[in-house]
Amino acid sequence: MTSTKIAFIGAGNMASSIIGGLVGKGWRPDRIAASDPQQATLERLRTVAPVVTAADNAAAIEGADVVVLAVKPQVMREVLEPLAPALRRQRPLIISIAAGIEISSLEHWLGASLPIVRCMPNTPALVQSGATGACASAAVTTEQRQAADAILRAIGIVLWVDDEAQLDAVTAVSGSGPAYFFLVMEAIQQAGVDLGLSPEVARQLTLQTALGAAQMAVTSDVDAAELRRRVTSPNGTTERAIAVFEEGGLRQLFARALDACAERSRELARELADK
Ligand SMILES: NC(=O)c1ccc[n+]([C@@H]2O[C@H](COP(=O)([O-])OP(=O)(O)OC[C@H]3O[C@@H](n4cnc5c(N)ncnc54)[C@H](OP(=O)(O)O)[C@@H]3O)[C@@H](O)[C@H]2O)c1
Repeated sequence: MTSTKIAFIGAGNMASSIIGGLVGKGWRPDRIAASDPQQATLERLRTVAPVVTAADNAAAIEGADVVVLAVKPQVMREVLEPLAPALRRQRPLIISIAAGIEISSLEHWLGASLPIVRCMPNTPALVQSGATGACASAAVTTEQRQAADAILRAIGIVLWVDDEAQLDAVTAVSGSGPAYFFLVMEAIQQAGVDLGLSPEVARQLTLQTALGAAQMAVTSDVDAAELRRRVTSPNGTTERAIAVFEEGGLRQLFARALDACAERSRELARELADK
């Protein structure tokens, strides 16, 4: 699989992270091609790995087994339509990482039901700690799905959903999720300062606590609720804080926030489909 020929259309942040992860896992850089309008972007990519940089998108996809669409959603249509005849002939696996673009829109612009994997990665992919939700179109074979899984695992974990509509929930949980945790970090840090800590001490304590809690939750054989119960002694300090969160309706607030996020994800998909 590491000699599969992969073409990246768009060589920005996400493409560069996926390529860095793939090469780090032993994928051959000479089997990876990338195209981008900016020469400087391609040069930056070559400092990550000595991949083949193509003069244009059409040259990049030549002979590719997998084509990764790593451009912004707003330019997807203008990128895809000129490539459609070649992609229909070649029938590579197409992986789209563009937020909000539905498989039906991609099929429409391609003019055929090609094998497509649509996925929703998140920002920690940039440090190879991402969480990606993925969904395969009916034309994707088992081998192609395995190839997509192996490629996307270069930037973190991959969870598959059968129903594409669930990618709106994926967006609400993990796509936008890093921002919720950043917000919680901001809030804890500020509260620490308000309690008299210096900003630097509050910052380091907050970040290491977030990291330590995440590592415990990921490696533990019990769930987050049980971990929380174990650090909440009856009549202790943590119990007092948790009671304030519960009284303030924190769970309901998260439910409303994620609901609003999923609704915006559906709206964006409709807007992008009409472009
Ligand atoms: N970054 C994230 O955390 C994240 C998370 C989830 C999903 N995504 C999705 O990943 C995709 C890429 O995001 P990114 O953060 O990597 O964006 P990015 O850094 O802006 O990369 C996109 C690249 O595509 C290039 N491009 C523009 N028009 C092109 C064309 N016609 N042909 C080929 N390349 C073209 C851009 O060049 P110019 O700069 O010159 O326009 C840019 O270098 C987006 O669709 C986004 O929705 C990103």
